[in-house]
Amino acid sequence: MQKTTRISGFHKLSIRERLKKVQEFSGLSDDEAALFGKSGALDISTADRMIENVIGTFELPLGIVTNMMVNSKEVLVPLAVEEASVVAALSNAAKMARSGGGFFTSSTRPVMIGQIQLTGLSDPFAAKMQILEQREKVIALANEQDPLLVEHGGGCRDIEVRVLDSAQGPMVVTHIFVDTCDAMGANAVNTMAEALAPFIEKLTSGRVFLRILSNLADRRLVRARCLVRKEAIPPGPEVIDGILSAWAFADADPYRAATHNKGIMNGISALTISTGNDFRAIESGAHTYASRSGQYKPLSRWEKDREGNLQGSLEVPMALGLIGGATAVHPVARTVVKILGVETALELGEIAAAVGLGQNLAALRVLAAEGVQRGHMSLHAKNIAVMAGAVGSEVDEISGMLVAENKVRMDRAKELLEQLRQR
Ligand code: MEV
Repeated sequence: MQKTTRISGFHKLSIRERLKKVQEFSGLSDDEAALFGKSGALDISTADRMIENVIGTFELPLGIVTNMMVNSKEVLVPLAVEEASVVAALSNAAKMARSGGGFFTSSTRPVMIGQIQLTGLSDPFAAKMQILEQREKVIALANEQDPLLVEHGGGCRDIEVRVLDSAQGPMVVTHIFVDTCDAMGANAVNTMAEALAPFIEKLTSGRVFLRILSNLADRRLVRARCLVRKEAIPPGPEVIDGILSAWAFADADPYRAATHNKGIMNGISALTISTGNDFRAIESGAHTYASRSGQYKPLSRWEKDREGNLQGSLEVPMALGLIGGATAVHPVARTVVKILGVETALELGEIAAAVGLGQNLAALRVLAAEGVQRGHMSLHAKNIAVMAGAVGSEVDEISGMLVAENKVRMDRAKELLEQLRQR
């Protein structure tokens, strides 16, 4: 009989029963199925409340970045990431940035945008004016939805109305600008946008379809800069010209800019995950912001000051929250926030900007100097050694030999392991 994924009432089953169904469907052994039962700090019942159809939890390594100084404050930065070198690279870059006092940051207020899409109008420009005439009322109606946010100093601050020329004719899109304080803000903004829809329909006799947050959070920007003194950058000051050339390459070419920004997001996304935030929101905001000129561009900029030192800067949307969402629920995320020592979402966002800039510095320096493979290879060699069967001290010994011979291959690792054990 053909297997089916139409499993009615799957969500109503217990975690164990769900897992049993998956085990049967996928032919998992008992040992394989047992992997899902082993939850760590995030206990399975909490996980079961976070998303639907839970069968287990998924772990990532959490590493601590050292040497980070942000606005003259020492910060340990926990990053959750699957990629080797990210944590070490940022620790190195943070050390270089200390030569200029570390990272310095600033940010806008945490203002998120909600969009209300109005369609079916033959006179969209008149509708735009009608909505703008009611600005105060729209703001008041939005703020009625979230008295708690208003009490905390947040709330809807302003509106904007745009007429878009779409494939289906004109659309009138109202933006609400909401200061979401320490929350990521999706819930607050979506609630407000939904509540405003009937009012806007009535006002204009158009038809509202979408009422949803925009992830292009370009009113919630964080900025970071750092100065690296020319004598503090290995192998020597000549690498600075290579970094400037790498930046110019990314500025001229979206193929390179994609990788350049990926390196920045290596740090930002890892911090987003470790603090239990929505990494897709951060990624989509960053990449769309990078395209705002019409060409996809690097999020950072590198320059040389008069004395020949390296100056880096970065600006990026940062919809990170501290309250609500998984940050408040996930015990590891909560503890990560404690390690970071941040009290507000703005502080967290600014650390994220510093992390992104530092990660970029590390990547460009290595690319302009020795290339990434040397560092990657030694970590890769360790994995190969383990896969070849090395244990304990054998791992370092075998991986060292693989790197020295420049043959980081499984067959060679097996040979070397055999020789080592015969000795
Ligand atoms: C790899 O994860 C990130 C880099 O490719 C970034 C870059 O090329 O700038 C090293």
